[in-house]
Amino acid sequence: MLTNPTKISDADLRSAIHVAYLSDETEAVNKLIADLDLKTEMLESIHKDAVAIVKEIRQSKSPGMMETFLAEYGLSTQEGVSLMCLAEALLRVPDDSTIDALINDKIAPADWSKHLGHSTSPLVNTSTWALMLTGKIIDSKEIKKWDVSGNIRQLLKRVGEPVIRTAVAKSMKILGHQFVLGRNIKEAIKRAKNMEAKGYTYSYDMLGEAAHTADDAKFYFMAYSKAITALSESCNSPNITENPGISVKLSALHPRYEFANASRIIKELVPRVSSLVHLAKNANMGFNIDAEEADRLDLSLDIIEAVLSNPDLQNWDGFGVVVQAYAPRASYVLDWLYQLAQRLDRKIMVRLVKGAYWDSEIKHAQVEGLDGYPVFTRKASTDISYLACAKKLLSMTDFIYPQFATHNANTVAAVLNMAGERNDYEFQRLHGMGEALYEVVRKQNQARCRIYAPVGVHEDLLAYLVRRLLENGANSSFVNQVLDESVPPEDVVRDPISIINAKEQIPNPHIPLPCNILSNGRINSKGINIANPSVLKELDTARSAYISHKWQAGVTNAVGDGDKRAIYNPADSSDHVGDVVEASIEQVDEALVRANNATKTWKQQPVEERAICLEKLANSYEEHAEEMIALSCREAGKLLPDSISEIREAVDFCRFYANRARTDFDSNSSNSSNSSNSSS
Ligand code: FAD
Ligand code: 2OP
Repeated sequence: MLTNPTKISDADLRSAIHVAYLSDETEAVNKLIADLDLKTEMLESIHKDAVAIVKEIRQSKSPGMMETFLAEYGLSTQEGVSLMCLAEALLRVPDDSTIDALINDKIAPADWSKHLGHSTSPLVNTSTWALMLTGKIIDSKEIKKWDVSGNIRQLLKRVGEPVIRTAVAKSMKILGHQFVLGRNIKEAIKRAKNMEAKGYTYSYDMLGEAAHTADDAKFYFMAYSKAITALSESCNSPNITENPGISVKLSALHPRYEFANASRIIKELVPRVSSLVHLAKNANMGFNIDAEEADRLDLSLDIIEAVLSNPDLQNWDGFGVVVQAYAPRASYVLDWLYQLAQRLDRKIMVRLVKGAYWDSEIKHAQVEGLDGYPVFTRKASTDISYLACAKKLLSMTDFIYPQFATHNANTVAAVLNMAGERNDYEFQRLHGMGEALYEVVRKQNQARCRIYAPVGVHEDLLAYLVRRLLENGANSSFVNQVLDESVPPEDVVRDPISIINAKEQIPNPHIPLPCNILSNGRINSKGINIANPSVLKELDTARSAYISHKWQAGVTNAVGDGDKRAIYNPADSSDHVGDVVEASIEQVDEALVRANNATKTWKQQPVEERAICLEKLANSYEEHAEEMIALSCREAGKLLPDSISEIREAVDFCRFYANRARTDFDSNSSNSSNSSNSSS
């Protein structure tokens, strides 16, 4: 008798994604390595191919501007850091005097001369000259050494400032434009012709994200619609994978695209995305939803499901989703997408990336006091996850068209080896990066490659540029190392599994858990990850006990015989939160006497005991966080995130002062009156 294969329900697949939100890196990576199950022979073949690719890139006549630039100025050099800071800051500094101060700060102290003539690129060398001269002109000590008179020195400085400002701004624009295909879609389509003639395809990204206002969102919506209409003229193939596509950031289409506003977002954003999707479908082009910050992932899946479920999209294979391998959730997201595509009987595209928001995810988790990180903390963990997800995608091609987006030769070689003779997928790279890599790969393997091309004006580039500078500036980045002759090709493409196996522990010891980031052993207050639906559900269940609770407050805790006043929620005047019995004059007097008496005993307590009291209070706030949050939401009419922050602030203050008391006062002294006053 045939048995039905056990099908996991959609709800279970979603809940697997929730469970893995901040999952343990050791467990997650070990599971991914086991899933990958790469045999020695395969590993050797990947390594051999990857080394060959790097060697060929190094011999290439045009190895790529970004790679060449980074070989000289990575984030591990002071000059590289200065340039990256300048590039980022110049875009948002409005006035000349701050720009001058910034240039002064970043250019003058750096030692440009040590980079002179180093690079293989004349452009990088010329820029080094210009930066060195700029540094000397703005550093008046240096001009003095040139043996020029005081007047000329002054003149040089005065004339120099606007010239330098314009020149530095221009060179930063050049650096920025490295990543942009055109200022508008027409210009970009024209510029794309060259590479299209060589066999590349494009996915266009209209620069702009994280809309702040409804007008911003409208503007970006119009930009996307116009771009799709303009691109439709170039969609000449019946095979959608040969046509250009568009990549869309949901955060550009709604100013409140946040999990906290889920129901409003579903109602307002789904129709917007759907109308763009229909335009794309009618043009037979790919429409791709970019992956953004981790706390938007779950909401994006709801939107994807709602949009894709429209029966009008039947027989269109162009809906695309991006999955970030640096998230421990990645492989579970693939399972869910695959089942969704099966259920709707629709083929979708999945672009696998490593993830572009790593630095901000780490910082965000620390600020929010989360239990862990939504991204891996070792680059090799991300690389392993990418390979495991790639293997999974290659087993899902009946419903998924895989798009492997990477600039890393080891990752490319691994995909090529795992795919063997198959041709049912494509590679992707970003405009301005990985040119030489894909020239080599396409020559050797006839692999297809699509270029992701940002389109827009310099002013909209900031967020995208910062991500590129951060990821490429890091010395662990492939693009950063590929042309650095001091790193042998074998090391540039080291197998990530062997890198992980050589570590004493899988989580990066330099990135402590968010609870342990503070100095002096002080524990960070515990946050609640309300972007995780399972956590939110738990919190809501706990808070429901207080949904109609009536708190009673009074001087002695018992409702006495003073005037009783009802307290209502300022955000909902029908919500009776509780009652307060106002203190009478006599009660206030009595309280002051009692407080005064207590001070004497308190002063006698050793500092350590007083510090422990504060810590107990902090722990008690955390133990009763659900009630405190419910109270803060109802009594002060606060939103959930603000209520959580309020409790955390109280916890942090208690622990901070406990800590300060211990460090600032002799904990053995039991009765120093100064210390008592300060720490009480
Ligand atoms: P590599 O140098 O091999 O990897 C660098 C990456 O490793 C970093 O970006 C980071 O993800 C990861 N990493 C670095 N340090 C650590 C660490 N300590 N611990 C854990 N991981 C670490 N990104 C998005 O987020 N959303 C998108 O929608 C998106 N679309 C893209 C489309 C295309 C066509 C391409 C090519 C890229 C896209 N990206 C997107 C960007 C992509 O995530 C980065 O370009 C990519 O991470 C760089 O990976 P790599 O394989 O080229 O380089
Ligand atoms: C980013 O915007 C490429 O989508 C990616 O960083």
